[in-house]
Amino acid sequence: MLDLEGISSRRCWATRSWPYSTPSPHLSRCITLDKAIPTTNILVTAASGGVGQYAVQLAKLGNVHVTATCGARNIDLVKNLGADEVIDYKTPQCAALKSPSDKKYDVVIHCATPTPWSTFEPNLGLNGKVIDITPGPSAFWTAVVKKVTCSKKKLVPVLLFPQAKNLDYLVGLVKEGKLKTIIDSKYTLSKAEEAWAKSIDGHATGKIIVEP
Ligand SMILES: NC(=O)c1ccc[n+]([C@@H]2O[C@H](COP(=O)([O-])OP(=O)(O)OC[C@H]3O[C@@H](n4cnc5c(N)ncnc54)[C@H](OP(=O)(O)O)[C@@H]3O)[C@@H](O)[C@H]2O)c1
Repeated sequence: MLDLEGISSRRCWATRSWPYSTPSPHLSRCITLDKAIPTTNILVTAASGGVGQYAVQLAKLGNVHVTATCGARNIDLVKNLGADEVIDYKTPQCAALKSPSDKKYDVVIHCATPTPWSTFEPNLGLNGKVIDITPGPSAFWTAVVKKVTCSKKKLVPVLLFPQAKNLDYLVGLVKEGKLKTIIDSKYTLSKAEEAWAKSIDGHATGKIIVEP
C-alpha cells in the first residue's frame, strides 16, 4: 500500500488507501513517507494516464497542492480532475519538472517515462520522495544509493499489485461520487490485441477497457 503518511491524518484519508501493494518481501511494507514533515506539494507526472488520473484525484481528496504534467491537449481535463497547476510535458519547464509557482515537491508520483534523478533532485523538498512506477535500471540503482547513504531525499521504485481491501475502498469513493474514471476507449475481448497496442503506445487519455 502506498501510504502517504507525510500527509496529516485529516488530509490523508484518501491517499492512505492507494489501491495497490507490492508483492516482494522487500517492497511489501507500506511506503511510508516521513511523518515529521507534512506533505503539502505533490507532483504527478503523466496525470492524464490511467494511473496518474487517480493520483491527482486522491491527492486532492487529501487536500494537498498538486502540480501535474500532461500533453497540451489534456491540460483542461487534468485541471478538472483537481490539479492546481498543470504543465505541458513538451515544454522546457516541464522537461526540468519545475513547478510554475516554484514550489518544491514533497512527493513525486512518477507515472511518465523513466527520468534521471538529476532532473528530480533540484525540485524536491528537503525530505522529498519520488515514488517511481516506471523505474528503469538507473532508478533501482539510485534507490540503493540513496538508502545506503541515508539521503533524506529518496527514490522508491514501485511494482503495483491490487489488493482487495484497497480496491473496495476506492469503489466506495466511486459510489460516493468522489472518484471518477476517465475512459479513453473500450474494446471487446476479441480486440484485446488492439487494446494492448493502444496501451503500450503511451498516449491514452485515461483507462483502456477490455470488455467480455
Ligand atoms: N509499476 C507498476 O506496477 C505499474 C502499474 C501500472 C502502470 N505502470 C506504468 O506506468 C506508466 C503509466 O501508465 P498509465 O496507464 O497511467 O498511462 P500511459 O498510457 O503511459 O499515459 C498516457 C498519458 O500520458 C501522457 N504522457 C505521455 N508521456 C508523457 C510525459 N513524458 N509526461 C507527461 N505526460 C505524458 C500522454 O499524453 P499524450 O497522449 O498527449 O502524449 C497520455 O495522456 C506506464 O509506463 C505503465 O507501464 C506501472
